[in-house]
Amino acid sequence: MSSPVSPEQKGGLTPTSFKPRIFSGIQPSGGLTLGNYLGALKRFVEKQDEGIETIYCLVDMHAITVWQDPAKLRHATREGAAAFIAAGIDPKRSILFNQSQVSAHAELGWIFNCVARMGWMSRMTQFKDKAGKNSENVSLGLFAYPALMAADILAYHATMVPVGEDQKQHLELTRDIAIKFNNDYGVDFFPVVDPLIEGAATRVMSLRDGTRKMSKSDPSDQSRINLTDSADMIAAKIRKAKTDPEPLPDSVEALRDRPEARNLVNIYAALSGHSVDQVIRDFAGAQFGTFKPALADLAVATLSPITTEMNRLMADPAEIDRILGDGAERADAIAQPILEQVFDITGMIRSRRK
Ligand code: TYM
Repeated sequence: MSSPVSPEQKGGLTPTSFKPRIFSGIQPSGGLTLGNYLGALKRFVEKQDEGIETIYCLVDMHAITVWQDPAKLRHATREGAAAFIAAGIDPKRSILFNQSQVSAHAELGWIFNCVARMGWMSRMTQFKDKAGKNSENVSLGLFAYPALMAADILAYHATMVPVGEDQKQHLELTRDIAIKFNNDYGVDFFPVVDPLIEGAATRVMSLRDGTRKMSKSDPSDQSRINLTDSADMIAAKIRKAKTDPEPLPDSVEALRDRPEARNLVNIYAALSGHSVDQVIRDFAGAQFGTFKPALADLAVATLSPITTEMNRLMADPAEIDRILGDGAERADAIAQPILEQVFDITGMIRSRRK
């Protein structure tokens, strides 16, 4: 399968020569949740503050793999950008943009459609969950979704991708696509990315059912905390969150068969920056009547300033669009030369006058 390539085609790259670079994305397919904040946004900020090069994207082209009302998509994209900035992303230090403004994503996505195998895509659990019994009727884009995701990451030669637990399989597929491309063309061109799935809140669960993921697409608004919720709404949702009648135990192991209790403890740990062990030590023996108000206070103290700042930013949509446009230009400057090398490696003639 592999063919000999010239050193020019290889570009002198070896897998060890990639500089550390982080890429991650969030779909603007509705408002963001506490799950997005703890599993992704909060960690995006930490990575930025560690001084690593960080590229963050609102993946609007992924969002339309299921129907989106155009006006709502535009609003959700701006609101998502506002959430990034309000949570601590500095658009000067990080690159922040929306996917559709950088055409390399779609172009490389197509090439990866030709690298990825039907069998690989058919095994994606997110596709199976989203398509359900309706797989004949979902968009082709939903099936190809993970190849576009691989393109998002690899168009920048990103080496690390912070995500929540639910994206693990997609990142394994990204690795498979990079390896297959490198093998097929006999190059060491794409890095094999490291998923960064870390911390106490890699999978925040629904407040109504501790066995289901907290999700912006859950029909019940009570199941999630939205970044746009008021302090009163946050407190009420936590007060009403499903729990069991037992007090909190004195060991983490004892939470194993108590999904709702475990979820609230994990959320507390992630919000406070303490370990789950520490939270259990602090609240061992406490009833939920004590624990829930403490959690509500913590959630409100963390999220309210973010919500306030989001609202302030959303009052000036032109400024958000300017930030996204500036980010897109900087993103394009990285992705376009990489894409040109991909075209060269794959044998595409590029003789158009610029
Ligand atoms: P999305 O938009 O569903 O979620 C964005 C990020 O939030 C994380 N997340 C959660 N983490 C913990 N608990 C939860 N309940 C929870 N819900 C969501 C997700 O794991 C994710 O990190 N396919 C991606 C978007 C994407 C992307 C990419 C990500 C497109 N291209 C390239 C990384 C790199 C998605 O649908 O995320």
